[in-house]
Amino acid sequence: MTASLPLSLGSELRDLVVQWRRHLHQQPELSFHEEETARFVHETLEGFGGLEITRPTATSVLARLVTGRPGPILAMRADMDALPIAEDTGLPFASANRGVMHACGHDGHTATLLGAVKQLLAMRDQLRGELRFIFQHAEEVYPGGAEEMVQRGVMDGVDRVIGAHLWASLEVGKVGVVEGAAMAAPDTFWITVRGKGGHGAIPQQTVDPIAVAAQVVTNLQHVVARSVDPIDSAVLSVTQFHAGTAHNVIPDVAELNGTVRTFDAALRTRIPQVMERIIKGVTEAHGATYDFTYERGYRSLINDVTVTREMAAVVEAACGPDVLTTLRPTMGGEDFSAFLQKAPGSFFFIGAGNAARGIVHPHHHPRFDIDERALETGVRIFVEAARRFNG
Ligand code: NI
Repeated sequence: MTASLPLSLGSELRDLVVQWRRHLHQQPELSFHEEETARFVHETLEGFGGLEITRPTATSVLARLVTGRPGPILAMRADMDALPIAEDTGLPFASANRGVMHACGHDGHTATLLGAVKQLLAMRDQLRGELRFIFQHAEEVYPGGAEEMVQRGVMDGVDRVIGAHLWASLEVGKVGVVEGAAMAAPDTFWITVRGKGGHGAIPQQTVDPIAVAAQVVTNLQHVVARSVDPIDSAVLSVTQFHAGTAHNVIPDVAELNGTVRTFDAALRTRIPQVMERIIKGVTEAHGATYDFTYERGYRSLINDVTVTREMAAVVEAACGPDVLTTLRPTMGGEDFSAFLQKAPGSFFFIGAGNAARGIVHPHHHPRFDIDERALETGVRIFVEAARRFNG
């Protein structure tokens, strides 16, 4: 059952937000290539009037609503990029850009924030300080757009920053908050095990990199299981294993690739050290050698406890008492963490799933979809947050 939503938006704005989302959904663009998306957002904002609009980077947009009355600066962020996925939803507004799809809901994020801007412009006489709307490019691909926008000064002077993700695993009508550690730091590693190839029937003349790399994979399972405090959280997944070309040839090399996820900064530093000790030991024991590359991704996303509690109250005021839920952290990554380096803030999750309507596919799936009622929930929360912090 969908919870009751007391604070109602005009149906005209509600329809506009859905229209914007569908337009964006049909024209998805990959990270760092959001040219048309940014142009659409820029033009739509210009059409509203009353904003100071700039382009911090080629495919991002910043809009400022400066009330002229002293008060804090509240930043709100939406990401705008899509994914290299061939859409399989059959929706009438499915992607017209073959092989590219809004499969994470960023189309909805952008439409939601546009809706909030429009509503807040209509209420500007009741507001003080400044509202800063960040339409960010490239969330999906490291190094991400957030860091770049922060470097261009979009967070200068900001007192609070909020952002949201439409969330498929949460039913529409629910909104989830997480205090403290909410999303992990997603790191990537590559391992090449170098042996000595030869005939599959004469193994004694070879150093078999497949057998050695298999031991590396097995032993890497000890990193989380045996060297991380069980109270801490970490993931180490080997997700690719490539080697060999024929049934009777032992190859020279085996290549592994995977991801490490952590919340804690010290643990994040220690894990690659433990990994390398294991890789070195295993490969040496079998006469092989190795290359090990470890690339740090986004920082972990740690929500400010005070702002998160304030946002919980905002959600209840905007959407009613039965809407709010507390979520467990996820090991997924998010470059919203870059904004949180500059100001306290909170990243929350807007339920967008609907099992009864078959809206059940996970993010980044070719059949991912949202229940569009979630868009209105998002607009309401952003508007209510502005009223609470800048009213
Ligand atoms: Ni996303």
